[in-house]
Amino acid sequence: MEDLKDILRYEEQVGIQLRKLYNKHGYSQYRMSRFEEYELYATNRAFLPSGEILTFTGGSGKLIALRPDVTLSIVKNIKDDDKLNKLYYNENVYRTDGREFKEQMQVGLECIGNIDTTLTGEVIKLANLSLKTVSDRYRLDVSHMGFLSGLLQNADLTKTQRKKLVVCISEKNISGIKTLCEEFGVTNDLCSRLTKLSDLYGTYEETINELQEISINDETDAALRELDELNTVLGGTGIKKAVNIDFSVVNDISYYSGIIFQGYIEGIPARVLSGGRYDELLRNFGKKSGAIGFAVYLDMLEKLDPAEENIKTETEMINIALPKGRLGEKAYSILEASGYGCFELREESRKLVFEDRENGIRYFWVKPSDVARYVERGAADIGVVGKDILLEHSPDVYELLDLGIGRCSICVAAKIGYIPGTNEKTQRVATKFPKIARDHYQNQGRDIDVIELNGSIELAPLLGLSDVIVDIVETGKTLSENKLETLETITDISARLISNKASYKFKHGKISKLCKAVSNTTVVQDK
Ligand code: PRP
Repeated sequence: MEDLKDILRYEEQVGIQLRKLYNKHGYSQYRMSRFEEYELYATNRAFLPSGEILTFTGGSGKLIALRPDVTLSIVKNIKDDDKLNKLYYNENVYRTDGREFKEQMQVGLECIGNIDTTLTGEVIKLANLSLKTVSDRYRLDVSHMGFLSGLLQNADLTKTQRKKLVVCISEKNISGIKTLCEEFGVTNDLCSRLTKLSDLYGTYEETINELQEISINDETDAALRELDELNTVLGGTGIKKAVNIDFSVVNDISYYSGIIFQGYIEGIPARVLSGGRYDELLRNFGKKSGAIGFAVYLDMLEKLDPAEENIKTETEMINIALPKGRLGEKAYSILEASGYGCFELREESRKLVFEDRENGIRYFWVKPSDVARYVERGAADIGVVGKDILLEHSPDVYELLDLGIGRCSICVAAKIGYIPGTNEKTQRVATKFPKIARDHYQNQGRDIDVIELNGSIELAPLLGLSDVIVDIVETGKTLSENKLETLETITDISARLISNKASYKFKHGKISKLCKAVSNTTVVQDK
């Protein structure tokens, strides 16, 4: 095997080590074709992490897909008998990253049958060992779908309302949870339980007291008992310290039912392992067995910095991306007043990076629309960004604080006196925010023709390029000076403090301290 080191890429070497690991623990390899009938994915779309699927027409005229996922194929083919199926796989899947299709290498395992706590513990131990195979600096975050659905049962919510709340919990977006609870008429008591749950991060021992206080009914109590049993099973294995309770780990309620988990490696900006108990998926296939499993995203390991020392120095600094311009200045004033000042930054210069090594802080000035990208990709640990950018691009980040600055609205506006057309006419909408505009009109069941522009949106209706615009309104001056008026407000927005998910885990102490300091600072916040 030593000889292979020269030939195989690092992630391929890890893949082989993981296969050996699973084999040693009694799992046998499951092989499958690259192709599946498209129907399988069409009926289980919500189970897939990304929407787009590569398809082509097969010889029989059937629509065939290049497999975007492995678990669905295994579940479809597995016999639903009393036998315990312990399987592992090493396969490529074909997914989009929002823009292009990518071939991704996955190694994973599935345990299908009568799943008890011992088996759950075994799978979680193997998830731990998988991460440890890559690096000693890892975290495995665990949550329980039963706890979350138990809490949400205590409110009279529609499916869409539940989904919106779950999204805010997955973003650790406390201000979002509060706003939605108010809008949906959720009691203050339940709202405070949900915000506490979203903020929770620590080992089982560190979080159990608070979880017991949050627990509200039989379902949440049962979920806690299961977490407690798991803690006992994991006890003495030396891995408990790397396992944290984190309820921002959520999966689709219609497929996942019990314990779920995600793994992170220091130096890699996004999760490298994801898994959990997915009994509900089997029910969707009319099967009675239970199931638990996980996948390791081997391609993510390419991002691992081979110079371990670099990671070490990086973990000592908090990297903050600030938006260039007025909003960034205001955000910096808040951070400075919270004890996170950087002397160099106030000096006149064209520098883009400023650091205060003593305080372990580094600032970057970046284009406002790029902040979320820097944070999502881990080039910055935290950043300040307008909610408009978050709504438009849905980056995979935590939304930790509403800074209360940069307040404005996203509105539909048109020439004064414009009468909205009937439903027969497709409205032409000029905007910098195509997704926000599409989502807004889709909710109204209206088809629109989006004209994407980069600026001076107000010109579009004046020159007959569009009927209306969807744009930011702050003072309303630009609209009135151009004889335009607001027709409706889509949403109010303000600047948010966001965090990279992996940074939040590995620099948790520093990031939560900064958040606390900033929330206690009210100086320059807008009214
Ligand atoms: C934004 C927005 C409006 C204007 C609204 O433009 O797109 O044009 O501010 O502000 P007001 O209500 O206070 O008049 P921005 O300054 O970002 O420039 P842009 O036109 O290039 O997008």
